[in-house]
Amino acid sequence: MQNFPSVFESIKDLEKGHIDGLLKLAGKFKGYSHDWQGLPIPFIKRPIIATSFLENSTRTKHSFAIAIKNLGATYIDFNADTSSLKKGESLEETLRTLHSQGVDMCIIRSNISRELAQFKEKPPIKIINGGDGTHQHPTQALLDLFTMTEIGLDLEGKTISIIGDTIHSRVGHSLLDLLPQFGAKVILCGPSECLPPSQEMKEYPHVEMTTNIDEVIDRSDLLYLLRIQKERHSGNQVNYYESYPNDYGISVERLKRHNKHLPVFHPGPANVGVEITRDLIESPYYFGYEQVHNSIFMRMAIIQAVLQNSDKRLGIQFAGRTIQDLA
Ligand code: NCD
Repeated sequence: MQNFPSVFESIKDLEKGHIDGLLKLAGKFKGYSHDWQGLPIPFIKRPIIATSFLENSTRTKHSFAIAIKNLGATYIDFNADTSSLKKGESLEETLRTLHSQGVDMCIIRSNISRELAQFKEKPPIKIINGGDGTHQHPTQALLDLFTMTEIGLDLEGKTISIIGDTIHSRVGHSLLDLLPQFGAKVILCGPSECLPPSQEMKEYPHVEMTTNIDEVIDRSDLLYLLRIQKERHSGNQVNYYESYPNDYGISVERLKRHNKHLPVFHPGPANVGVEITRDLIESPYYFGYEQVHNSIFMRMAIIQAVLQNSDKRLGIQFAGRTIQDLA
């Protein structure tokens, strides 16, 4: 893939051709997972890839770890809590150090929105964003798109509704940047406190916002549920917590009431009994486990695309210099 970014921070970093390439490659990797024949010859130089999760994670971290191992790369689980980051070393210095040790790429999750943007101009190492604050979670959105195509949903002219705490959701923000590129209309639905300010939505002409869940269910081809992200709320945003399950929670019974047979996606972790009921998770409408399954193949594709670019700006270059060069 030509010019794939070395610091993959946001869906906005990708051209449409990159996304099409990733969908194809993830499909190939998924094919290989059933039949290892025809697998590309493993890398002769094994890349070294680290994950650095500065915030909690189950799905993203382990799916990257499995994707790294499936590709035959060497995996390093960089533990931020026991690293020199705790002694005040900057993230940039840490990444330069890892690159100087031969690490090729780092998958980073940070609780600070846009923390990785500073590295785009002069990347200390190749970077994939594993979720930054409330800003972006581009690999999640891409694996969701891959899953939508895998289950036979052609997005052209379809309506995807994202229900929940969109304003705090990095997944929601990445989906907003991605899905309209494939012809989908996106509706954001939830209590008004959960919806982004209309001003912010001006750059998204294909996106609508509403608090009316019943209308949304009737109009949708897919429901994408988000967790209420209490850890990202400041103290005064608690008004809707108690009424949320009744007002916006999705159950099999609610779908039946609307006579709708549509797929329900959730990036996890789900708060069962809040945005989704246990019976819906157990029902055929729920595709959350397909999302998790497909995450491996899309992340393998993304890792390969970033690894294989030939960016010359990376890290510290070792030119074999000696003290004579200092004069
Ligand atoms: C999400 C995340 O961490 O952004 N989960 C995920 O990566 N699958 C969503 C969330 O925390 O609600």
